[in-house]
Amino acid sequence: MFPLHRGRRLRQNQSIRSLVSETTLSPSDFMFPMFIAEGENIKVEIPSMPGIFRRSIDLTIEEVKELFALGIRAVNIYVKVDESLKDNTGKEAWNPNGLMQQAIKAIKKACPEMIVMPDVALDPYSIYGHDGIIKNGDIENDATVEALVKMAVSHAEAGADFVAPSDMMDGRVLRLRQGLDAAGFTNVGIMSYSAKYASAFYGPFRDALDSAPKETGEVVPKDKKTYQMDYANRIEAIKEAVWDAEEGADMVMVKPGIAYLDIVREVKNAVNIPVTVFHVSGEYAMIKAAAEKGWLDHDKIMMEQLMCIKRAGASLISTYFAKEAAILLTSQSYQ
Ligand code: PBG
Repeated sequence: MFPLHRGRRLRQNQSIRSLVSETTLSPSDFMFPMFIAEGENIKVEIPSMPGIFRRSIDLTIEEVKELFALGIRAVNIYVKVDESLKDNTGKEAWNPNGLMQQAIKAIKKACPEMIVMPDVALDPYSIYGHDGIIKNGDIENDATVEALVKMAVSHAEAGADFVAPSDMMDGRVLRLRQGLDAAGFTNVGIMSYSAKYASAFYGPFRDALDSAPKETGEVVPKDKKTYQMDYANRIEAIKEAVWDAEEGADMVMVKPGIAYLDIVREVKNAVNIPVTVFHVSGEYAMIKAAAEKGWLDHDKIMMEQLMCIKRAGASLISTYFAKEAAILLTSQSYQ
């Protein structure tokens, strides 16, 4: 008998392929990262992220309603902070009337069922563009963690469903859990950016928020490599994810996405809580740029990457493609 196996039997038409498909995508698999700006009626496109905008709160809530109608159930939010409000302590981060806190309140009011996950990290508030407080030319881990607790509690007070620490300081998940509980927010969850690599794929995001580490003439670390992970490492990612789960994270995250799918699978196998993946700004920019040149098929590449991230073990994908992919998934023509 030749051949012994005929794997092609299960691939011979779309109906059979759909019967044996191992992975599916739906709009509720996605979280949409949103950039918030001061002001009213503001909608500014990020040059390195075509189709992605910084919006003032009024326009943000209109967009959130559209996302919800498309089946998207979570948004990650990031704010662009005025230069005059930045310092080394990051204290604007826990201003009860700060832009982030106002945005959380407005989104929850306009669309109460949308899960709101504000970013917890000091970089948009830091004069140095770092995720930590600087002392003697170095990041002060424990003092930064205490600042993050104040920040997270202020997000919870504004109505956040989850807080999403993206700073990579040691011990922050435990202190955030304790701080939220002590303030009475036992139901506010923590989605921890556990395995966050020091990656050049974050470039367009830093353009969007003007949050790249800055040359100030003072002695500060020139990059984020003392806290974000070395992309040569794998075991370290598992260790970080397991620690965060033990400290009380409800979900862990691996970031970036496509170049890190081995890590996604290993983390998935190592923890028994949902794994989220951030398909980051640079990954978005690459697809947009290649599609603009006519070198790649935009929609096909977008869906392939999202499906592969899910197949690797993601329960949720934070992606700038969330809206476009949700529209495509719900359209008649995409089957
Ligand atoms: C800030 C933060 C970053 C991203 C999410 N939160 C940038 C960084 O760490 O420098 C990147 C997201 C993206 O590139 O889409 N702590």
